[in-house]
Amino acid sequence: MTDAPNNGANEPNQPPVKKKKVNAARQREHIDPDEGVRPLPWFLVMFLGAMAMWGAFYIYITPSGEDSAFGDQRTVADLRPPLPAEGAVDGKQVFAAKCVACHQGTGLGVAGVFPPLVGSEWVLGDEKILANILLHGVNGEMEVKGVVYKGAMPPWKTLSDDELTAVINYIRSDWGNKASPIKADTIKAQRAATASRTQPYAGGAELKSETKSDPK
Ligand code: HEC
Repeated sequence: MTDAPNNGANEPNQPPVKKKKVNAARQREHIDPDEGVRPLPWFLVMFLGAMAMWGAFYIYITPSGEDSAFGDQRTVADLRPPLPAEGAVDGKQVFAAKCVACHQGTGLGVAGVFPPLVGSEWVLGDEKILANILLHGVNGEMEVKGVVYKGAMPPWKTLSDDELTAVINYIRSDWGNKASPIKADTIKAQRAATASRTQPYAGGAELKSETKSDPK
């Protein structure tokens, strides 16, 4: 071991760093600062202690549970949003969600592809046939207002009786259509009468003949 600091000068050919110079440099430096001991001021300690004691006391004196004297006195029932009236389904909303893509917001459909609902004899006519169209869909030739369509109308039996009733009553009464509203019972009855059907109707002709033979 030598006195020379290990500054890479261990090579035998290098001259050792001079001790004196290093010491002189170190002496010019200040001593590292020291944090020392600095206790919290006594009033802060007492204040924190008093706060903690008040907190414990407050928890102790505050009754938990039913007594709302310490709250704003609203109960859970007050805060619940009002429930919509039972069975209130907006047919326009169902139409906007399920039908508008094909039959359009105007109910006029797309010429040659999607038949119009405005003034349609199917919409304004026999409500049982209309219920069947919606429940099972149609896939075949169908004449609407003198034009033959040969498209695919998807089945909607996944919708509830209330939703189908609402959308049917909407298409029967909007855009100047004026047909009497139907009841949810009609959908319920047609759903039961056609329960065995798994395929869409093959067209207008089948719709008419099949619906007639439905038991009442
Ligand atoms: C994927 C497109 C499409 C959707 C979505 C659709 N339909 Fe149809 N709809 C058709 C087609 C196509 C026909 C004609 C079927 C044919 O040619 O066999 C039709 C026929 C009808 C008919 C009988 C013909 C007429 O114009 O009156 C009614 C009523 C009807 N749809 C109502 C609805 C209702 C209500 C909805 C929403 C719940 C709906 N459709 C959703 C494509 C659609």
